[in-house]
Amino acid sequence: MTVELAYADTDSGAAPGSRDVLVLLHAFPLSQAMWAEQRTALADVARVITPDLRGFGASPDAGSDGAEPSVDAVADDVAALLDRLGVDRVVLGGLSMGGYVVMSFLRRHAERVRGIALLDTKAAIDAPEARDNRLRMAEAVGDSGTRVLRPMLDTLLGRTTHAERPAVVAQVTRWLDEARPEGVAWAQRAMAARPDSYETLRGADVPALVVVGDEDQPSPPDEARAMVEALPRGQLMVVNGSGHLSSVERPDAVSEGLRGFLLSL
Ligand code: MLT
Repeated sequence: MTVELAYADTDSGAAPGSRDVLVLLHAFPLSQAMWAEQRTALADVARVITPDLRGFGASPDAGSDGAEPSVDAVADDVAALLDRLGVDRVVLGGLSMGGYVVMSFLRRHAERVRGIALLDTKAAIDAPEARDNRLRMAEAVGDSGTRVLRPMLDTLLGRTTHAERPAVVAQVTRWLDEARPEGVAWAQRAMAARPDSYETLRGADVPALVVVGDEDQPSPPDEARAMVEALPRGQLMVVNGSGHLSSVERPDAVSEGLRGFLLSL
């Protein structure tokens, strides 16, 4: 079971070529719009494809194929998108929820992965309290709508962004307001059910870039260091002056990091 994902593609309409393909998976509860800066900045070194994951952006509702909430279903959607585009192997990156999907993709479609980028994410499962919070939000968003997401703004963005980047705060607020309740509830249940991924990372024999904002609260730098230690070929990049949404808060720094990584492959 898969759904047909909407996506943006820097090489839209072009035949599959020999360039590296970089696929970037967005955070919860955003959409592929969050990668606009990276698409522009990296188009000269890779074909960049940014899907809207099920339930977000222009993609179909998360439950439209009847799939139970799981990050595996989302990983299979991404594989189906690559099939549709005639793309075989990719460098796969994801931020936070997108990173959980990258780790699932590694378990299910490892032969299609040439390298990974894990941004502001973690390999550990949730503590019971965090899991309960997710399930509570999944219920609440059905009753009260996406205004239940507004408090997330405090921890999604770092203190430097809150203090110095009002345009970023305004943009992310708009994205939170645009999220769809059905997608939010399904994704929270999927993330609550995700497995521990340390074993997956230990077995991932591909180049890996781990990126983290030094002010990231939901996935702090210690989580990133633990992932680098688990990865056979992992390298760490800390983004100063950024919280959880590093690619949005410090887009130039993250694009530069991804560029260096792509060129090193
Ligand atoms: C995200 O940014 O995707 C979320 O923080 C993921 C999560 O809730 O664990």
